[in-house]
Amino acid sequence: MLITLEGIDGSGKSTLYRGLEERLADINPLFTREPGSPYLGDAVRRAIAENSDPLAEAALFVADHAVHLATVVRPALEEGRVVISDRYSDSRFAYQQVSLAGHHPSPKSWLTAVHARWSIVPDITFLMLISPKTALERVGDRGEREHFEQEEFLEEVQKNYLDRMAENPSRFILVDAELPPETILDFVEKSIRERINRQ
Ligand code: TYD
Repeated sequence: MLITLEGIDGSGKSTLYRGLEERLADINPLFTREPGSPYLGDAVRRAIAENSDPLAEAALFVADHAVHLATVVRPALEEGRVVISDRYSDSRFAYQQVSLAGHHPSPKSWLTAVHARWSIVPDITFLMLISPKTALERVGDRGEREHFEQEEFLEEVQKNYLDRMAENPSRFILVDAELPPETILDFVEKSIRERINRQ
């Protein structure tokens, strides 16, 4: 089973991820993330930091996904493990539709085509919903901002996430990311366990 955690920067995904690592230890899930695949992760980080070409950056995110899928996600799913990924393909549909606007005539069709027929669609996606202003206040405490971390940009990203959810309602579970972290963790843990028990 493939479970993904999505949401804008500062939505609390990483806190949720760490909490799930502790709470779900008994089912031994494989915890992983995008970007950050074995040999492309550094190139992606560099593309984000240099912010020079949105198409190159988007292509690197897709390449990172391919390596992630081939070397980490697919082998674990084939062993029957539960895989939990902090960010996955929906991040591309949410972020690159914004970053590619004006650089490609139809970012959405490019993203759809480039993932079609080889990428694995998650079974469940938790979408952390939060006001971009609040999210950026949280990010603000962590030092330097990446080029994605701007309020208007994140407003658009979150809209794309919500569109994506409207197009795939059975896969998405919405999480109110402004609730206390323990409440969020309780809810997500319970949802995952219920889903596993139903299998
Ligand atoms: P990361 O540093 O892992 O941020 P976070 O801790 O918020 O997950 O990710 C780097 C940035 O890359 C983040 O702002 C989201 C963005 N991103 C994309 O634009 N497209 C993608 O496909 C992925 C996976 C991430």
